[in-house]
Amino acid sequence: MRLGKKMGAIAAGVALALSLAACSGGGAGSSSDGESQAVGNGDDEIKVGVAMPTETSERWIADGDAVKSGLEKAGYKVDLQFAGDDIPTQTQQIDQMITQGADLLIIAAIDGTALTSQLESAAEQNIPVISYDRLIRDSENVDFYVSFDNYKVGVAQANALLFGLGLTDKDGKATDEKGPFNIELFAGSLDDNNAHFFWDGAMDTLKPFMDDGSIVVPSKQTDIEQAATLRWSQEAAQARMENLLTSTYSGDTKLDGVLSPFDGISRGIITALQGVGMGPTMKDGLPVVTGQDAEIASVKLIQDGVQESTIFKDTRLLADQAVVAAKAFIDGKEPEANDTKTYDNGKKVVPSYLLDVVTVYKDNIQSELVDSGYWTQDEIDAGQAS
Ligand code: BGC
Repeated sequence: MRLGKKMGAIAAGVALALSLAACSGGGAGSSSDGESQAVGNGDDEIKVGVAMPTETSERWIADGDAVKSGLEKAGYKVDLQFAGDDIPTQTQQIDQMITQGADLLIIAAIDGTALTSQLESAAEQNIPVISYDRLIRDSENVDFYVSFDNYKVGVAQANALLFGLGLTDKDGKATDEKGPFNIELFAGSLDDNNAHFFWDGAMDTLKPFMDDGSIVVPSKQTDIEQAATLRWSQEAAQARMENLLTSTYSGDTKLDGVLSPFDGISRGIITALQGVGMGPTMKDGLPVVTGQDAEIASVKLIQDGVQESTIFKDTRLLADQAVVAAKAFIDGKEPEANDTKTYDNGKKVVPSYLLDVVTVYKDNIQSELVDSGYWTQDEIDAGQAS
């Protein structure tokens, strides 16, 4: 571990201030209490830079807010930045966090290979780096990774597609149905390490069905490079789906399902399908479309029988883990990993804490998303966060 003397001294200062605050009844960072002001103030304050990729997808806003509030509750000062999915903006934001004295960085990268020089300066200054949800690649200087089990996300997406087509039951057990069903495949952004894990999990799961002919990809676009969607863009996905409809489905060929790795991409695909008169719902023949992130607009589509499924990644739990890991580093300890094998970033295997995911269909929206307080029923009915 790389923590410098500064961090140890700061950790001691924070511990003292916290205990003083506890004695006097105030919380860390409470402004009504003189002594607790020592936390997050003056030279000894701990600053955490949090770099998020974009505000165009609501999951990253939720992630950013949850990480910020968790860190603030712990008594740290937080600089939260979103980069509008623009790589130079993100590198500049991280450079600035370092110049302005960040003691620790939490980064969800746009391009996982573009941050090597930022991470080098962080390392030179003993600033621990936590890679958030997306693994930062090609750098020795990533200290910890918090994410979900991304291979399992891909497996879950493919299972939802197979279930929607009737080829398996909900537990992934094959039924007597043999199709053949026509599907098309979409992947995420190639510069995001997760896109490859999602794809591998999905393709490994679909392969036996492709091999026995119960699933066919009429466009023959079965490589990740052909299926990729730069920056996970909804518009790019819609355009590719429109092209596929023209090139492959303008005759008698029927499209039965689409593997989609992200709700934004799913909505682009659905718009293209409805644009040529399919649906509007699955009951009226709209192909089965999967998704990810339980975005509010897609949860509404699932409730309305338009989108088949999404993968719920509880960003509140991920943010908690990032805060736990940050606290460990700041206290001069190693965060606890539950995976030390899977995430090789090209330079090292990064110790990771991975969380589980849940597939959400129409029938478990209530139990998974409403009962857990992730979305309210009113928000789902409106298709909008309030
Ligand atoms: C995340 C997904 C998200 C995608 C697009 C991936 O790195 O793991 O949850 O859908 O980025 O933002």
